[in-house]
Amino acid sequence: MCDAARWLLLCLLLQLPVQAQTPPPDTTARLMKELTEAHGPSGSEEPVGRIVMKYLSPLVSEVKVDGLGSIIGIRKGSAGGPRIMLAAHMDEVGFIVKTITSDGFVYMNPVGGWRDQVLLAQRWIIMTRKGPVTAVSGSKTPHVMSPDERDRGVPAKDVFLDVGARSRDEAGEVMGIQPGDPIAPDSPFQIMANGDYYMAKAWDDRMGLVLMIEALKRLQSQKHPNTILAVATVQEEIGLRGAHTSTAIAEPDLGISLEVGVAADYPGIDSKQAQESLGKGPGIFLLDSSMIPNRRLRDFIVEVAQRNKIPFQYEVLSGYGEDGAEIQRFKSGRPSINLTVPTRYLHSHIGILSRRDFDRAVELLVAVLMALDQKAVEQIRSFDYGQSKSAE
Ligand code: CO
Repeated sequence: MCDAARWLLLCLLLQLPVQAQTPPPDTTARLMKELTEAHGPSGSEEPVGRIVMKYLSPLVSEVKVDGLGSIIGIRKGSAGGPRIMLAAHMDEVGFIVKTITSDGFVYMNPVGGWRDQVLLAQRWIIMTRKGPVTAVSGSKTPHVMSPDERDRGVPAKDVFLDVGARSRDEAGEVMGIQPGDPIAPDSPFQIMANGDYYMAKAWDDRMGLVLMIEALKRLQSQKHPNTILAVATVQEEIGLRGAHTSTAIAEPDLGISLEVGVAADYPGIDSKQAQESLGKGPGIFLLDSSMIPNRRLRDFIVEVAQRNKIPFQYEVLSGYGEDGAEIQRFKSGRPSINLTVPTRYLHSHIGILSRRDFDRAVELLVAVLMALDQKAVEQIRSFDYGQSKSAE
């Protein structure tokens, strides 16, 4: 009997709530838990980077770090193969400390895109020089509100954190909180009752990191022609900055961004806004606000998916950017695409994705990496201008 089944039986016998306690069933889920529970808002990715280093280093022959903190793992293929860059970002949306009031409350400034409505009454971690400090975003009790006040939302600039300090000195001197300190959402990884849906913060883009590591693990035993550049980027959420600097070291011939897709399968959202659904396989982006992917690369991936009987879905989104755009703009231009796992409720304290979708994304990525060779990359990079000159 597997661990999960034994646990379920124990829960039933003891009448414990199953869902609250289901332990991660395998190493993949354990890595998901470790990475999603780590705190790393844009510009402060070290806690995530340490985990990435631990799991990535044994899978590559060389690791480099760029000037902003992006990690570039290099896995050499057989000589002459193309350089394929995978990019997943380590940062998550967060805040920084703006000011501390005389009575010890903390005001903050967003880092990355947040919606005001998801900010109140949540747990946060302030990453200080003395270590992590737990905070809660204070929210006025409804007992004292007028009906009008209850209906009105609270704008982000008015949201404050309560760290339990009784004065500015206690927050600063005793707890070590300083203006500029990063603030990250705090939320546990949990497996939902159906066993397939996993909820956690920061799937965007810790999912991509797990996908990259899992694909490299699978490639361990396989001979393939490509040099794979497994890049864990920084500062994606504030303008793809780490992807820009890390491509200078990676020097890719082709790039695949590994990201969360926008699931549109819950109340209040429809297929005109986003198209992915949980359970229907990985997503292939056809357009986002940062790039139009290479269509020959799209066709190549679709063909690989169909050959391997892996279901997939398309997505077209105008309010979304990703690291593939920086790969695309490297030097004279490189083919790139964005491969996703559909996820609900991005940029909040809890997102939901399907483990089955994730597993299929690993299968698809491995199959694509195995199929890409010099000839395929040259074909993808060519243009039909009626003559056979390549771009470079
Ligand atoms: Co992202």
